[in-house]
Amino acid sequence: MMKIGVLTSGGDSPGMNAAVRAVVRFGIARGMKVYGIYRGYEGLIDGELEELDRRAVGDILQRGGTMLKTARSERFMTEAGRRKAVTTIETFGLDAIVVIGGNGSFAGALELSRLGVNVMCIPGTIDNDLGYTESTIGFDTAVNTVLDAITRIRDTSSSHERTTVVEVMGRHCGDIALYAGIAGGAEAVLLPEVDRDVNSVCRKIIEGCNQGKQHSIIIKAEGYPMDSQELVKEISERTGRSVRLVVLSYLQRGGSPTLQDRMLATRCGDKAIELLDAGLTNKAIGLVDGKVLGFNLKEALAETQEFDRHLYECVDVLSR
Ligand code: F6P
Repeated sequence: MMKIGVLTSGGDSPGMNAAVRAVVRFGIARGMKVYGIYRGYEGLIDGELEELDRRAVGDILQRGGTMLKTARSERFMTEAGRRKAVTTIETFGLDAIVVIGGNGSFAGALELSRLGVNVMCIPGTIDNDLGYTESTIGFDTAVNTVLDAITRIRDTSSSHERTTVVEVMGRHCGDIALYAGIAGGAEAVLLPEVDRDVNSVCRKIIEGCNQGKQHSIIIKAEGYPMDSQELVKEISERTGRSVRLVVLSYLQRGGSPTLQDRMLATRCGDKAIELLDAGLTNKAIGLVDGKVLGFNLKEALAETQEFDRHLYECVDVLSR
């Protein structure tokens, strides 16, 4: 009987639970024993795992966060930590590990595969920063959360005839900001991928005022290289307007997953188990052209995220 472990690692994302549930239930359906590993790679190092039955993953589909807990493991970055993790895998007789996480977690899985461990990766991160897949589990929910916040901010921003800067997550990838900017009707978005100066944003705000706009929303990804307070100060000084800052922070990582994230998580879990059952390993599961497929892990990790310049330019055209 095949024995596998499943863990969630790095920043949590809505839909991780749905992915864990799918791995456990599809695994059991194919005659596997499935172990839940707690606190990501930390639990793998410390041997913090237990067998999960179908009921153990009941009532988690609709919940944000991860029932397995998560961590950014410093110890796993070291050779000694990884060797301890391999010892746990050998002790429990695990044939493969399913890793649900973002690029740091995938890099960890690749290191494990170099030590002879069979791995299977599922993309779970709100950032949507994995180039090989069109979407990651949690991105859709996070953007919807941002949109909900923008709708509320818009009301008060309009009443007070203000400009509001909304800081969203995304250290290296501006997709949350970009999609929320398009779907939330922002005046401008500031991203790590584009070197846009504050002057052009201020011009945009002033032009809007001259055309009778009552308020403006500027979305700034956390990875845009300027402190948000500083940005607010500059916009206020240069436009003479009242400007406020809203930092959405961890709000974006919580909440019940959307249909899209539940479906993606479930399909990724299904594919991961199907491939393992077929004897395939060291793959990253991803969505391409509507299909959920397995890609070579090393190549998938090396694929850089293609920035959608056209979508970025749409923000300006739409908000003139
Ligand atoms: O998981 C990715 C992410 O949400 C980033 O967008 C953000 O910069 C980071 O996590 C924050 O993580 P932490 O939980 O370590 O503060």
